[in-house]
Amino acid sequence: MRRLIPTGDTARPVAFAEVSQLVPGPDEALIKVEAFAPNRGETFLLEDPRPGLLPGKDIAGLVVRAAADGSGPGTGSRVVGHPAQGGWAEYAPVPTHSLAVLPDSVDSVRAAALPLAGITALRLLRTCGSLAGGRVLVTGASGGVGHFVTELAVGAGAEVTVVTATPVRGERLAELGAEVVHQVTAARGPFDVVLESTGGPNLPVALSKVRPGGTLVWFGQASRTPVTLDFFRLLSGPERVTIQHFHYAGAPYGSDLATLLRLVAQERLHPEIGRIAPWTETAETLVDLRERRIRGKAVLMTGGTE
Ligand SMILES: NC(=O)c1ccc[n+]([C@@H]2O[C@H](COP(=O)([O-])OP(=O)(O)OC[C@H]3O[C@@H](n4cnc5c(N)ncnc54)[C@H](OP(=O)(O)O)[C@@H]3O)[C@@H](O)[C@H]2O)c1
Repeated sequence: MRRLIPTGDTARPVAFAEVSQLVPGPDEALIKVEAFAPNRGETFLLEDPRPGLLPGKDIAGLVVRAAADGSGPGTGSRVVGHPAQGGWAEYAPVPTHSLAVLPDSVDSVRAAALPLAGITALRLLRTCGSLAGGRVLVTGASGGVGHFVTELAVGAGAEVTVVTATPVRGERLAELGAEVVHQVTAARGPFDVVLESTGGPNLPVALSKVRPGGTLVWFGQASRTPVTLDFFRLLSGPERVTIQHFHYAGAPYGSDLATLLRLVAQERLHPEIGRIAPWTETAETLVDLRERRIRGKAVLMTGGTE
């Protein structure tokens, strides 16, 4: 079968290889991959791939062999999955605890857009507690996580402000109910919660907009620039703010995937997919994602839908 493997070349980060199928473990179902979606974090890993890295965490497709231990969906089920790796391939084994069955109304393209970004958005919101009536700022919001977290936070009753590079990158977020600004400095605080994922000079500015006693959840550094904080500037800013480090990871993922699918089926969550392309265009799509040329998610299709 064919799989995409890392090249270490930042201009064409992956290439096809003809390989044998991975053998599923007893608690893993074998999925015929129909669609997959890359994430910014994966583009970072591909810049200097560790030996043996098999990219691919977000997939949707068909169960062609149910797990040997009897767990999870049966053969013939259409599913979304979040394996630890190896999803950018014609076939991928996925632990059954990280699979969910697609409702009839959700196609594999929208399903593939969900796992990492959608689970991150759900888990971020859980760390925030109740947002009803609260004010939330989301930086780096025009990507996968940003669209999901914005729609979910608005749905939970929050007043949401988002930061995007340009008006076009903020268009859909405005439709979802957010106030859109293009510099963190332009965001009108104070905010109960700031969801910060860009790092560099943005984080200290965002921190200055948290209300006294409020929280900044730090979950990324899209700018690749480390943050410098000045204690004395904080003295003149809001008091008793909390900076909370966040990492989404922790299996099982199946129940969160099922929640995301339910919300999509109920038209309460709308994956923003800025590009759908055949998987032969994965390398250029990864570069465009890295270079901020794709709004929301990119989804690649293997052509394996028959
Ligand atoms: N902690 C975790 O568990 C976790 C989980 C998932 C993702 N993440 C992180 O969360 C962030 C969002 O993930 P994603 O998958 O949504 O990524 P994405 O789809 O690539 O979106 C990232 C967004 O960050 C903004 N951005 C990129 N470069 C920037 C820069 N130099 N300065 C300011 N903003 C920049 C871009 O928006 P504009 O071009 O509109 O500014 C882009 O839309 C990433 O940093 C990712 O690594 C963390």
